[in-house]
Amino acid sequence: MGIFKGIRKLASQAYRFFYPLSLVEVYKRMGVKIGSNCHFQFDVVIDHSHYWLIEIGDNVTLAPRVHLLAHDASTKLHLNYTRIGKVKIGNNVFVGAGSIVLPGVTIGNNCVIGAGSVVSKSIPENSVAAGNPCKVVNTLDHFLKNRKEEFVLAPKFDESFTLRGNIDRKKMDEMLQAIGNNYGYVV
Ligand SMILES: CC(C)(COP(=O)(O)OP(=O)(O)OC[C@H]1O[C@@H](n2cnc3c(N)ncnc32)[C@H](O)[C@@H]1OP(=O)(O)O)[C@@H](O)C(=O)NCCC(=O)NCCS
Repeated sequence: MGIFKGIRKLASQAYRFFYPLSLVEVYKRMGVKIGSNCHFQFDVVIDHSHYWLIEIGDNVTLAPRVHLLAHDASTKLHLNYTRIGKVKIGNNVFVGAGSIVLPGVTIGNNCVIGAGSVVSKSIPENSVAAGNPCKVVNTLDHFLKNRKEEFVLAPKFDESFTLRGNIDRKKMDEMLQAIGNNYGYVV
């Protein structure tokens, strides 16, 4: 085993030692309603000060730095009250990196939310939506049809091309070469 692989393995073991629970588990234990088979990537923030207002369905992925907000203290100084609203994320939803979901928003079932979106209004089911403010840019069906067509011809990479599969420099170069200026798909 190369020295870098060894260091990486040690670092990941140390991380698991200090942070043994997944973020999903941490938020579940705080009381957030979260369905099955959900994945929260690093630095996801769920408004735990009002966790009972937030509901997340099954098969939901929150990409890195997604923020779900159920309260808005911008009125506190003037009204002495904070505005609150439920946040509901349906089943089979992907929320892209760095997105912010504001109080009162429902994201319907089978939606993809683009990276960096500010979701200020509810998004209907089966939509791809993106931007600030977040708007529907595609239907899920059309999006998947395009991606499936691309997938057929695109270079594909197995687990050995991933960090969890301990990718080495040779495979990194192989991937760079195969993708060129197009897209590829990694397992
Ligand atoms: C939204 C996304 C899924 C693409 O969906 P798509 O249906 O293929 O969208 P297209 O690329 O055809 O773009 C459609 C329009 O939306 C815009 N758009 C796409 N993604 C956007 C985003 N994240 N923010 C703002 N606008 C976006 C495009 O510029 C395009 O605008 P135009 O019609 O004015 O030219 C993809 O861009 C995305 O953001 N994926 C998330 C990536 C991520 O979060 N990765 C984290 C690691 S898991």
